[in-house]
Amino acid sequence: VPCVSVWAVVVAAGAGERFGRPKQLELVGGRRVVDWAVSAARRWCEGVVVVVAPHELGVDIDGADAVVAGGRERSDSVRAGLAALPEGVEIVVVHDAARPAAPDGLFGAVIAAVRDGADGAVPGLPVTDTIKVVAHDGTVEQTLDRHRLVAVQTPQAFRVDALRGAHAGGGDATDDAALVEGRGGRVVVVAGDPANVKLTVPSDLAALDAALAGGRD
Ligand code: C5P
Repeated sequence: VPCVSVWAVVVAAGAGERFGRPKQLELVGGRRVVDWAVSAARRWCEGVVVVVAPHELGVDIDGADAVVAGGRERSDSVRAGLAALPEGVEIVVVHDAARPAAPDGLFGAVIAAVRDGADGAVPGLPVTDTIKVVAHDGTVEQTLDRHRLVAVQTPQAFRVDALRGAHAGGGDATDDAALVEGRGGRVVVVAGDPANVKLTVPSDLAALDAALAGGRD
């Protein structure tokens, strides 16, 4: 395997609207949520760029090579992170700070898939609920075939060129991979982990705290 340069962009610039406050600074398992994400990324990447809200630029982030200000939407924050990568980086791993319990192996798996030739790789989990497409008035338009659906997580790995190209036209997506797919890039799914939950509402804290209390992996 040729030695390629891998960096991570950890996005931690959300306002935590559903959570009620910036969730990335909450303590779980004795550390801040963002610190878990950065230290996991560090184990797999040569460098880590952390994207924070502009008013948090002064916050101390251990293990970050660069801390930059994010934007209004997640995509704006990813673009700010991409702009801060040094020359020569070939693979970028984008990770939500809000997923402090991402297992180490997941970083390895998505990076390996991109090394093997994919433009992007994302962790996915089988969907257990049936998913329907619904119009604004509540009328069901379509019921999707659950067997073809996966719920995706981060970390997500990309060829830097592919992700830069996908973000070049601006655009907003809750998922970077969707932008890459939209330009015809080949994105593959690797097995996600049910423990890799995204801290979304305060009631998620207890489970994450329990999962991380004994360390990770
Ligand atoms: O809001 P959501 O939970 O989908 O956010 C996922 C991740 O994206 C979080 O880690 C959050 O801090 C980050 N984010 C960001 N900039 C935004 C919105 C979200 O970095 N404008």
